[in-house]
Amino acid sequence: MLVRTLEVGVCGTDREISEGLFGIAPQDEQLLVLGHEALGVVEQDGYGFTRGQLVTATVRRSCCHCLACAEESPDSCLTGDYSERGITRLHGYDRELVAEDPEQLVAIPKSLGRLGVLAEPTSICERALRHSRTIGGRQPWQLERALVIGAGAIGLLATYLLRLADVEVTTASLEPENELVEQSGAQYVSTHDNELSALGKFDLVIEAAGNAQLMAQTLGLLRRSGVACLLGIDPHHQTVELDGPVLGVDTILENHVLFGSVNAHRQDWLAAVDDLDRARERWPEALEQFVTLRLPLDRFQEAFEHRGGKATLVLSD
Ligand code: BGC
Repeated sequence: MLVRTLEVGVCGTDREISEGLFGIAPQDEQLLVLGHEALGVVEQDGYGFTRGQLVTATVRRSCCHCLACAEESPDSCLTGDYSERGITRLHGYDRELVAEDPEQLVAIPKSLGRLGVLAEPTSICERALRHSRTIGGRQPWQLERALVIGAGAIGLLATYLLRLADVEVTTASLEPENELVEQSGAQYVSTHDNELSALGKFDLVIEAAGNAQLMAQTLGLLRRSGVACLLGIDPHHQTVELDGPVLGVDTILENHVLFGSVNAHRQDWLAAVDDLDRARERWPEALEQFVTLRLPLDRFQEAFEHRGGKATLVLSD
């Protein structure tokens, strides 16, 4: 299918690739076209899509030789030989037209419109929450109190998804205040003035700040049977500290789990689109504030430097 790109979100992964720290160009090529948080429009009828339909596309594609990919779960690929649009061995969406496998397209409802550009980061959060619930639910467990560390796009979207499920959420980050967090009905706490350990204990802790020291600390913030999920990436070589008995005693005696989650299964994409639309209905003004900077493609540098909210590159109106 031919897809015309409308808008593409920029994230930390794009910045890392642009700095030469991550990413692999397609075989026998020197360049990699970025762009994995895509919103586009279908150019012609076919495969159940009609011209003009808004779409996004999955990021990770099968390695073609492992059990997980054979079961259509490249998000759980067992070899690492997968490709990812705009990241690994496959060009992305930062260009006018893209030829896409129709099976990788995900329809965006008209009601969601340009907010469909948030589908990709939302799918990451959906996978994390689905796995957290599966892990937590392996034994009697209730998701009543959640802590989200970090208030970038992933932290905010995780906060909103948890609030959609009426979970009591505290979101903590460095900035003194965060209106978007509060508009969701979550409590915002600045880690500048507060220790995370003073916030009590949680059934679920999501680390979306990308700080390995905080990741280690999440274990000490769990209630009995609590689950900690790591989403932010921290590539720094460093030694992190953790009080011995938190790992050596409490993790065992209190049935804790710490796990990481990457990418998203197709079911998470479908849930992301549905939940974004439900969030838009419940908090219309807040959702409109998620994208704080929209720039044309040739101003990509400014988009990459932008901090405080999601920046997007606009290719077509
Ligand atoms: C993307 C994921 C991808 C991961 C690792 C993230 O930025 O959202 O889809 O799997 O990077 O490449």
